[in-house]
Amino acid sequence: MNYYDEIEKLKKEKDVLILAHYYVNDEVQDIADKIGDSFQLAKEAQNATNKIICFCGVHFMGECAKILNSDKKVIVPDINAGCAMADMVDIEAIKNVKKSAPDTAIVSYVNTTAEVKSYSDVCVTSSNAIKIISQIPNKNIYFLPDRNLGSYIAKQFPEKNFSFNPGYCKYHNFVDEKEILELKKDTGYDVLVHPECREEVVELGDCIGSTKALLEYVKETKKNGYIVCTEEGIIHQMKKVCPDSIFISPKSMNKCSDMKMNSIEKVYNAILNEGPEIILDEKMSKRAFIPLKRMMELG
Ligand code: 13P
Ligand code: SF4
Repeated sequence: MNYYDEIEKLKKEKDVLILAHYYVNDEVQDIADKIGDSFQLAKEAQNATNKIICFCGVHFMGECAKILNSDKKVIVPDINAGCAMADMVDIEAIKNVKKSAPDTAIVSYVNTTAEVKSYSDVCVTSSNAIKIISQIPNKNIYFLPDRNLGSYIAKQFPEKNFSFNPGYCKYHNFVDEKEILELKKDTGYDVLVHPECREEVVELGDCIGSTKALLEYVKETKKNGYIVCTEEGIIHQMKKVCPDSIFISPKSMNKCSDMKMNSIEKVYNAILNEGPEIILDEKMSKRAFIPLKRMMELG
């Protein structure tokens, strides 16, 4: 079966918008209506007018789409594609902060479950965190769950007191600074770093930013080569904007196995069956909408 043709047909028949994150398999990126970082995709989902949104990413991204545009049916190719970092949050710890230090702003990375968002004051992504936090009046910030992104952001706000939840991305956290230094020494290529990497790696970055920001940097600089310290799926788009450059994915940067669960066959089946569907508790979803809406407004 030619999945591309079949998906194109079904998409029109059922009025489906396919959104895909930069980390999913190349074949899925190629069938998507929109590809983007988590903030771009949240905006696309919020503004979608189609009956169905097929979200190719990980679970929290599908949840965001559903929370922001609750009238739509949101389906995902694989309901088991999750984000380990999103599951690292201790909700009791948030409740304790809210009780013991009520003047603290609970700032949640968008890589969190809907339940965690429902206890948060505002959400951020790596592309808008600095802009959003600069508009928050609170001096005390509890940032969760990514300690690496959190400490990168905290450095930009020396006047604020940050405390953190000890979460991390099980891929970005293990990028090895020694390997990056060696690669840089051998090639002279620019180092592109997602702020989910540890500080030692972030310090080596010629460009530090969200997946979209890294892609924009490649588009603008068009250098001979780049060392890409984020999930290798983004290289598919980097090659499109800069076909003559060389892109190195470090050995210590492993693929996100959950993002890779989005196959073209599963996209086809999801659209055909209109499921698996993201179903959320209505009350919780309404509470989670508040910090997400704030992100959309401030970001
Ligand atoms: P972006 O917001 O940069 O797309 O990052 C999402 C993510 O999960 C990175 O691991
Ligand atoms: Fe989550 Fe890391 Fe995968 Fe991003 S790369 S979705 S943070 S596990």
